[in-house]
Amino acid sequence: MQTIAKTMAARPLTSITLAAMLLLVSLGIAKVAGDDSKNTGSNKGNDMARVGDLVVEVCKNMSDGFLKQIHFDEEPCISVLRSDNRSAVAKDHGDLAIVAFDILEHRSKEIASKIDSLLHGLTAHNWTERALQFCVADYATVLHTIPLCRNMFLDVKPLGRKAGYEDAIVALECVDRLGVATRDCSLRMINNWDYNQVEVFFDVTRHVSLAWGLIEMATDTLDDHSTW
Ligand SMILES: *[C@@H]1O[C@H](CO)[C@@H](O)[C@H](O)[C@H]1NC(C)=O
Ligand SMILES: *[C@@H]1O[C@H](CO)[C@@H](O)[C@H](O)[C@H]1NC(C)=O
Ligand SMILES: *[C@@H]1O[C@H](CO)[C@@H](O)[C@H](O)[C@H]1NC(C)=O
Repeated sequence: MQTIAKTMAARPLTSITLAAMLLLVSLGIAKVAGDDSKNTGSNKGNDMARVGDLVVEVCKNMSDGFLKQIHFDEEPCISVLRSDNRSAVAKDHGDLAIVAFDILEHRSKEIASKIDSLLHGLTAHNWTERALQFCVADYATVLHTIPLCRNMFLDVKPLGRKAGYEDAIVALECVDRLGVATRDCSLRMINNWDYNQVEVFFDVTRHVSLAWGLIEMATDTLDDHSTW
């Protein structure tokens, strides 16, 4: 029963995602998508894999469609995880998920202060200002929610691949909120600000994907209900 209720709870958001995607298409964001796929292509040739390297294995899975809805190009995935030296000593996916949460939190704080300084630098009351005000709210949510998700995952982490679906899904639902909030800010910014500078906002959503993917791998739970 509980499973069904939770699954359904995630559903209404899907229509928001669809609406957002249509918005993206209609506003001609195709260029960004194009750049992304170019990156994917070039990464394939640049194989820096070492057999048995957990970070590399994880990032291969993040980039090759193993996780269906979730994607992060292999090379940036590796460099993001390796930016924290704890990745080198991570014993399993669960350890890496915690690293990913901490990197995400750090990155989100940076973006939140970038949003503040952009807002203070504006000389006109215009749509950029409104977009930034929404982003302030989005990132307040993000920064409040990350510790919550991290703690929820810490409850599940010792169970690892033996974690029950219900336990894993709670942590994923929490991360889903981060995805939605960071995406909403990105979409407002791309519509109301300098198109060439929004990539940093989308980048945070990729970091959310990384945490999501690691939780899925850590708990052996594939969920098709990410809604961002
Ligand atoms: C990567 O995905 C494969 C399935 O394609 C899975 O068997 C393997 O355990 C995954 N590796 C890691 C490190 O998650
Ligand atoms: C990571 O680096 C910091 C210093 O930058 C050090 O204090 C810490 O012990 C290192 N951790 C690991 C796991 O190597
Ligand atoms: C809003 O004003 C700022 C200058 O303060 C400008 O840089 C920005 O492009 C404007 N945004 C829109 C959507 O016109």
